[in-house]
Amino acid sequence: MTQKIGLGRAHSKIILIGEHSVVYGYSAIALPLKNIEVVCRVQEAQKPMEIDIADPLSTAVFAALEYLEKADEKLSIVIESNVPEKRGMGSSAAVAIAAIRAVFDYFDRSLSGPVLEMLANQAEIIAHENPSGLDAKTCLSDTAIKFIRNLGFSEMPIDLGAYLVIADTGIHGHTREAVQKVRNLEEKALPYLHRLGDLANLIEVGILAKDLSVIGQAMSQAHQELDLLGVSSPEANHLVQVAQAKGAIGAKMSGGGLGGCIIALCRYEKEAQDMSHMLKKEGAANTWIESL
Ligand code: MEV
Repeated sequence: MTQKIGLGRAHSKIILIGEHSVVYGYSAIALPLKNIEVVCRVQEAQKPMEIDIADPLSTAVFAALEYLEKADEKLSIVIESNVPEKRGMGSSAAVAIAAIRAVFDYFDRSLSGPVLEMLANQAEIIAHENPSGLDAKTCLSDTAIKFIRNLGFSEMPIDLGAYLVIADTGIHGHTREAVQKVRNLEEKALPYLHRLGDLANLIEVGILAKDLSVIGQAMSQAHQELDLLGVSSPEANHLVQVAQAKGAIGAKMSGGGLGGCIIALCRYEKEAQDMSHMLKKEGAANTWIESL
């Protein structure tokens, strides 16, 4: 008899605008990256899984098993991920979501959206001390998500007929340190954060008006503000400069920073493909193209 397998998948995410300023109450917009996925397979094992409470994957599996009242089941978990860790792409949330889906699938149990989000956020508390929930929300969503702290989330359909190139600097981002760096600036950070808030609003207007120039210019300005705040990195700055010089409508770092990814907006698919090759030649560890 073939062994039963539970299967779960989840996609990743990237922040379009609003990193750091979102911590201070300004809006952020995050995009689902539907083609960059994590797949999880669950099957019967000889002995119970060892739960490491510091590990978001085992926390997610354990949360799912507890919810299903199956905490004593012996399972093995295999993750195949195309989402690099610590790059602001929601790797921990995607792994947790894929694993929870796989556990429910293994037991042939239906899984509602709210229960999945609640269990995924339990794992996210392990991965990030104080998660806003934006990663899990975007990794669960087919549309972009707008988030304002204390106000919550709303879906923001984006249909620009454009392309976003995501380029990985190959360096781990350091979100916690970057957030602390901004905090240490105290009131000196406020003008930058305020301008980042304005730029997020401008990008929202650009999305509604389908105006790529507005969006692109605001992205590039946001990069400057984030660099001045001290949360970019030489590698991200280099890739942003290359993207801008080679005709991107706009480019910026994305996520917590001090490493991680950059994003570049292109009008046509061929431009995005050329941009992708160029960024790899200029040092990007990997690139992806997402249609917007
Ligand atoms: C990190 O993905 C986004 C930050 O704004 C931190 C946060 O919102 O918690 C840098």
